[in-house]
Amino acid sequence: MEIRKVCVIGGGLMGRQIALCSAIHGYDVVVYDSFAGVPEKVRAWAEEYLAGRIAKGKMTEAEVAATKARFTVGDDMEAAAGDADLVIEAIVEVYEAKEKLFRQLNDIIRPDAIVATNSSYMVSSLFQNCFGDASRLCNCHFYNPALVMKFVEVVQGPHTAEETGKTVFDFCKSIGKIPILMKKEIAGFAANRITGVVNQEGRYLVQNGYLTPQEVDIACEEGLKYPMGPFRLMDLTGVDLTYDLLKALYEGGAPKPDCYDLIEGMVKEGRLGRKTGHGFYDYV
Ligand SMILES: NC(=O)c1ccc[n+]([C@@H]2O[C@H](COP(=O)([O-])OP(=O)(O)OC[C@H]3O[C@@H](n4cnc5c(N)ncnc54)[C@H](O)[C@@H]3O)[C@@H](O)[C@H]2O)c1
Repeated sequence: MEIRKVCVIGGGLMGRQIALCSAIHGYDVVVYDSFAGVPEKVRAWAEEYLAGRIAKGKMTEAEVAATKARFTVGDDMEAAAGDADLVIEAIVEVYEAKEKLFRQLNDIIRPDAIVATNSSYMVSSLFQNCFGDASRLCNCHFYNPALVMKFVEVVQGPHTAEETGKTVFDFCKSIGKIPILMKKEIAGFAANRITGVVNQEGRYLVQNGYLTPQEVDIACEEGLKYPMGPFRLMDLTGVDLTYDLLKALYEGGAPKPDCYDLIEGMVKEGRLGRKTGHGFYDYV
């Protein structure tokens, strides 16, 4: 199947970057976000990013003009998703929110449209009942910052048609990514499962008073040469995202995760990391 028009649902940290990356690589893209003020913010962010690409000599004025012509942002889901070939969902990592959205989408999208979720941990089979035909549903998990990071996990569930996985995999390659295609789904997929072990150990060391978050990061960055330690990474991806994940695990019956109270307290105080200027580190 040929992808021409892409709809990205959710214009937050990830959605806006996935969308703009797709537009830069020649796709017609609409970002849909239901929250007041977000469409305006996404438009202003895209303007600033593209102006920066010209200033740095990475894109020509003509390339930027063509990208802008292909990139729109709106708050009407039917107009955004109704004629899309590929819909990429990038709303908050909350099961109930995604489930509700997918049920609405099922009534709107074309029967041959592919739906891919950018969820960090949830396998797409959790949502297969939201769709009359789930053979065109899969995971497509980008890494942050999605305009820069090349790695993407495309994950097929037992309900996913081979053609769906291949089409999304080829789409990722066409926007400059280096994807892998997993034909057996598992929560958290590939890279997040691997780093999850390190993150868990980092939180254990902090919870039990062996190290501070900043010392865990120094151990990883200086001792192991990781580009970022787990707490600095949490600031980048959003402390609220980690909280949503830990909360879902805890409420699902898992033992209380290490550093749960610390992370919950930070979310309540609005210390969400880079996006709010404060997290484990200060950015303003
Ligand atoms: N933050 C990361 O580093 C990262 C990396 C990979 C994947 N992800 C995944 O990407 C998804 C989005 O994460 P994010 O960090 O961009 O979140 P975010 O909070 O920055 O953005 C979410 C956006 O979705 C919008 N939204 C919420 N409900 C909506 C709805 N029903 N319809 C339309 N828009 C809606 C919000 O207004 C917000 O703009 C999550 O599933 C997350 O797990 C995040």
